[in-house]
Amino acid sequence: MGLKEEINRRRTFAIISHPDAGKTTLTEKFLLYGGAIAQAGAVKGKKNSRHAVSDWMEIEKQRGISVTSSVMQFQYDGYCINILDTPGHQDFSEDTYRTLMAADSAVMVIDASKGVENQTRKLFKVCVMRHIPIFTFINKMDRESRSPFDLIEQIENELGIQTYPVNWPIGCGKEFKGVYDRDKRHIIAFSSDSEMAFGKKKVAMEEVELSDPALDDMLGETLHQNLSDDIELLDGASYEFDINKVRNGELSPVFFGSALTNFGVEPFLERFLEMTTSPTARMSSEGLVDPFDPEFSAFVFKIQANMNKAHRDRITFLRVCSGKFDKEMDVLHVQGNKKMRLSQPQQIMAQEREIIDEAYAGDIIGVFDPGIFSIGDTICSPKRKFEFEPIPTFAPEHFMRVRQKDTLKRKQFVKGATQIAQEGAIQIFQEPETGMEEVIIGVVGVLQLEVFEYRMKNEYNVELFKESLSYSHIRWIDNKDIDVKKLKLSSDTKLVQDFRGNYLLLFTSEWNIRWALEKNEGLELSEFNRGA
Ligand code: G4P
Repeated sequence: MGLKEEINRRRTFAIISHPDAGKTTLTEKFLLYGGAIAQAGAVKGKKNSRHAVSDWMEIEKQRGISVTSSVMQFQYDGYCINILDTPGHQDFSEDTYRTLMAADSAVMVIDASKGVENQTRKLFKVCVMRHIPIFTFINKMDRESRSPFDLIEQIENELGIQTYPVNWPIGCGKEFKGVYDRDKRHIIAFSSDSEMAFGKKKVAMEEVELSDPALDDMLGETLHQNLSDDIELLDGASYEFDINKVRNGELSPVFFGSALTNFGVEPFLERFLEMTTSPTARMSSEGLVDPFDPEFSAFVFKIQANMNKAHRDRITFLRVCSGKFDKEMDVLHVQGNKKMRLSQPQQIMAQEREIIDEAYAGDIIGVFDPGIFSIGDTICSPKRKFEFEPIPTFAPEHFMRVRQKDTLKRKQFVKGATQIAQEGAIQIFQEPETGMEEVIIGVVGVLQLEVFEYRMKNEYNVELFKESLSYSHIRWIDNKDIDVKKLKLSSDTKLVQDFRGNYLLLFTSEWNIRWALEKNEGLELSEFNRGA
């Protein structure tokens, strides 16, 4: 297969949901349909048995939430699919944002009995910032659900996106019989035997015309009548399908189903793959980079250390943006200005990591990282030299002062804190002229502080003394020629430096920021680290 065909058949998307809506189950069913696993339950077994492939970290198992996001690749119907799992917890929305940077579209899973939930709202906002197509899968239709019309209305009102139901559920709970395909105007009826009832095998599907008299028998008169009424209402009230609006993230195609019983999973997968895009062009310092450009390019969107306790390795995840990657090729790490070969390039296939020989635009590859890469770095063919647009960092909102309990562990403390900061999980600040004995940790969500403490103990064997700080706002000082020590600041404002030596101010309120600006003429503050 040529380069063009390989890239054209790639689909790279992220899955987002409120915890428990069924993200893991749906991912697993995709893998089942793609033949990547033989039997469902292999990715996530019953509780206390096996854990999801994506549940890499110990802490994740303990708390039952996905802290970090993982990546999986599988083939389906000629497509090569890369799924990016995202953490469901809002405290990790920065990680979600980075993962979305690597995706070309997103699938939002919603629990049909609950509708839009808190985390769905927050993660959706992050999706919208990226302007990528968002597809909705309304899950758990095998249980009593809310009215599909209410669900659609809630998505539109609360998330502010138009919707287009691609299919419509026929009944719910035990009565969930199938879905009506609005384009083809026929019914896809599901049936299951006892094995299928647990969703272990692919589900049997039958396509029936809406006018088929057999439908009364299949669905029962009431369901059949309700369906006809629903369709009439829907055709009159719903937005028109418009692929351009879908591509711009303004209209979300909606599908109904049940990941657990497999009902509706395959129809969703098929239509979604048709509607979503192949790898899209990315902006760089040299303009748009065409995915079909034969020269390889990629950017770092995620770094994960110590995934494997036995090896203590650090894996950097790259999204390939153009051309073909070959494991023998030389590449240029643009930020480090260094020609190199990428070591142990690997991909996650269902349960295993596999060393790979090649990859194409759209793919996600993990490479062994001796500690040289940072989030947002560009890696490309030595024939090119450009930088992809930087990945913005979120301003931390929670701060904690930490130091090691055991003074002999200073080296491990510095190493752990630095490495975790390089991964982008926390930001480190220091008070001017103090060393790394004591640092201020800044995070977007409080849970990240707990993860930091846990990882310092388990991965670096360092116990911490910690002191919560009441700062809630951070601003970088943009003026380069200012004597920071002469700034007039309120007593509860703190001057710190980031690891690059940039000066910043920590404030306890918006009011203090205004006060500082008023008292120090010419002071320029910004919410983002422009130097990043
Ligand atoms: P998440 O990754 O979004 O957090 O959700 P996950 O897939 O882990 O699903 C959360 C729970 O919901 C699981 O039950 C799962 O079996 C169930 N579930 C997922 N999809 C469906 C569905 O379509 N219908 C129904 N009825 N349930 C569904 P659990 O009891 O918490 O876990 P487990 O013991 O089944 O692993």
